[in-house]
Amino acid sequence: MKNILITGGAGFIGSHVVRLFVTKYPDYHIINLDKLTYAGNLANLKDIENYPNYTFVKADICDYDTICELFKRYDIDGVIHLAAESHVDRSIKDPFTFARTNVMGTLALLQAAKMHWNGQWEGKRFYHISTDEVYGALDFDDTFFTETTKYDPHSPYSASKASSDHFVRAFHDTYGMPTIVTNCSNNYGPYQFPEKLIPLFINNIRHGKPLPVYGKGENVRDWLYVVDHARAIDIIFHNGKIADTYNIGGFNEWKNIDLIKVIIKTVDKLLGNPEGTSERLITYVTDRAGHDLRYAIDSSKLKNELGWEPSLQFEEGIEKTVRWYLDNQEWMDNITTGEYEKYYESMYGVK
Ligand code: NAD
Ligand code: DAU
Repeated sequence: MKNILITGGAGFIGSHVVRLFVTKYPDYHIINLDKLTYAGNLANLKDIENYPNYTFVKADICDYDTICELFKRYDIDGVIHLAAESHVDRSIKDPFTFARTNVMGTLALLQAAKMHWNGQWEGKRFYHISTDEVYGALDFDDTFFTETTKYDPHSPYSASKASSDHFVRAFHDTYGMPTIVTNCSNNYGPYQFPEKLIPLFINNIRHGKPLPVYGKGENVRDWLYVVDHARAIDIIFHNGKIADTYNIGGFNEWKNIDLIKVIIKTVDKLLGNPEGTSERLITYVTDRAGHDLRYAIDSSKLKNELGWEPSLQFEEGIEKTVRWYLDNQEWMDNITTGEYEKYYESMYGVK
């Protein structure tokens, strides 16, 4: 395969996937298609933007005619589809945008791939990146989500991702398209948009702002370092079984409030503050509507079949992450000032 279309490559996970593919596979032409919504940021790819095997195209995945034209222009062999609206809180306020991008956008890409490949499936692949949230919520004493767990999405975000997963599988079952779906747990690491828990809290601690903990802070998430997710995507894109599903996770569950205390401790340490200084910033706020209690992924299939495991221990990953955000304050300031500042105030009612 030579011409790979990566959608959403200017976002958080997508930028790590683009970087990995551009630097590891000089024989591939990587076409990064991104609409550059509020979450897309070409500064995430500054270090690789001049590579000869990299092309950026600003486009909307919902624009079917443009997508068809791009498949033709670049003779696309493989798709790694990450473009999406990804923030649960936004989906609660504005579900239509999530249905449009995540469902109709995925459908437009599938249909464009189908038209371009025209039944010649040899060497082709459509790889869709999904989330563990489609499986719903676990109780504290449940085991893990596996690849056979029934879909039970609760938020407009997870409902839209579940719907897109179904469309991808339907294109395999109906037309024979070589598809793969993976469902991953919460990612953390550099370049994550600071509306998500970890970068938001690192930045707020640095500025002495309140840390809005939803509900009692008891919800549990399973955290994976983003570079390990990108490594898994590389392995699965090349060696995963067609029409199969793989769960990707870190076996690394944290109750939100415990994770928040680790973040506080790490930021205070790196800023030279006495231990516990920023705990006063913890502010319990109204819970997220329909807040899923616990996500936990069983990724043993991926380990047993394709040999993937997370490479980084959480303690190392979180320190690396905090250090990155503190060292890249300009990246953060460029995002958190201006338009986003106004949005943040209107969303959370605080400065
Ligand atoms: P993100 O919000 O950081 O980035 C999304 C990217 O998609 C942005 O660059 C944005 O500009 C682009 N985009 C949005 N709408 C578009 C459109 N209509 N056309 C073209 N581009 C568009 O998201 P992320 O956290 O990097 O997530 C990437 C993918 O991984 C998503 O599909 C998400 O559902 C999935 N996922 C995320 C996580 C996580 O923890 N962040 C975990 C599992 C799965
Ligand atoms: O599980 C995978 C999913 O992880 C991805 O599919 C989503 O795209 C990604 O955004 C993430 O969803 P979450 O809702 O789990 O992530 P978020 O960072 O928004 O929140 C993590 C937890 O922290 C969640 O239980 C809500 C809580 N939280 C979040 C924010 C932003 C707070 O308590 N306060 C906050 O201000």
